[in-house]
Amino acid sequence: MGRVVAPGSLWALWLVPVALATVYFQEEFLDGESWRNRWIPSTNDSNFGHFRLSSGKFYGDIQKDKGLQTTENAKFYAISSRFKPFSNKGKTLVIQYTVKHEQKMDCGGGYVKIFPSDLDQKNLNGKSQYYIMFGPDICGFDIKKVHVILFYKSQYHSNKKPIRCKVDGFTHLYTLTLRPDLTYEVQIDTDIIESGNIEEDWNLEELRKMEKSALKMPKNWDKLSQNDKPSDVPSQDWDKHFLDASANKPSDWNSELDGEWQPSLIQKPKYKDGLKSENVDNSDYKDVWLHQKIENPGYLQDFELSEYENIGVIGLELWQVRSGTIFDNFLITDDENYAAEFGMKTWGRTKDPEKEMDMIQAKEEIKKAREEEEQLIKENIKEKYFQTQHVKDEL
Ligand SMILES: *[C@@H]1O[C@H](CO)[C@@H](O)[C@H](O)[C@H]1NC(C)=O
Repeated sequence: MGRVVAPGSLWALWLVPVALATVYFQEEFLDGESWRNRWIPSTNDSNFGHFRLSSGKFYGDIQKDKGLQTTENAKFYAISSRFKPFSNKGKTLVIQYTVKHEQKMDCGGGYVKIFPSDLDQKNLNGKSQYYIMFGPDICGFDIKKVHVILFYKSQYHSNKKPIRCKVDGFTHLYTLTLRPDLTYEVQIDTDIIESGNIEEDWNLEELRKMEKSALKMPKNWDKLSQNDKPSDVPSQDWDKHFLDASANKPSDWNSELDGEWQPSLIQKPKYKDGLKSENVDNSDYKDVWLHQKIENPGYLQDFELSEYENIGVIGLELWQVRSGTIFDNFLITDDENYAAEFGMKTWGRTKDPEKEMDMIQAKEEIKKAREEEEQLIKENIKEKYFQTQHVKDEL
């Protein structure tokens, strides 16, 4: 069989050769026990369960399918890995990994959490504040869902559209994409299972409408100089972003391919609470009252929603009744095509052989069970024969 390639992805790369993927984090566990240098188990609770490297009872490729496996029943688990902190402001964020519940999960988490870089990894626990929680959660007959929980304005917000997770014992590829235009997508095994608008599907519209309705732009805003801007405008009336006035359109910008060019948004200096902005010594400084452009879909959404300043740690912080889950092929990137290719290069190549091995094992088990049964019957017959012989002899 030839190379497995995501449908259409080669074309996409061909057409947009300028799009270079930034890979913030990638982990396939291909270097033996060295993962222990990259993954820090939490010691916050001495009773946390242990992870080991394993490809499980059945697999597509014994090396490639090695991942972090939970090893002890009825335990909490907490482990994490650090990478260079980044902000996803104005960029697509893709979080992807594979998870396999080969123990036939009865109750337990199979999700990942994305943390700010200041997380104390050694103390990771259920209360550690995270930015994003994503992935399957199974418990009994009632809970079989994919969580997408976003931290926004000091609170966790769950996805409102229920997303059903996979419940079988095979490896599945979970992909979450958050885009700067506030659309999102959840894929399982490269199929789009849910998609839409983050504001709507997390019920954040109401929260944000309230904020917006409290905003009133001063009538003569444009005419006011920086220092004359009213100080009675509460701080939340000021958007924290403005268009970078010093940015120039790149000379190789192709409007047809790349869309209309816009200067990037940059963050304003910090405000003193409830007051006007601090003086900025920059003659190019252009204050933009972004709220006056609410109709402009290009950049007028709330950029703080699903945007995080210093993403720096990925972790597994979960509870499992029956252990045996294997986590593998972690990826955090800004590039959807790259994620699709990586998914096909990893999960895509081993998923079928994994199923084959499981089927062969199942057949062998049936055969073995049958042989054992036959053996039992034979012994039974023998025993009965001897018994009858014995009875005969006695007679
Ligand atoms: C575990 O973490 C909590 C919260 O951060 C902290 O209060 C507690 O002291 C930690 N326990 C240990 C044993 O480090």
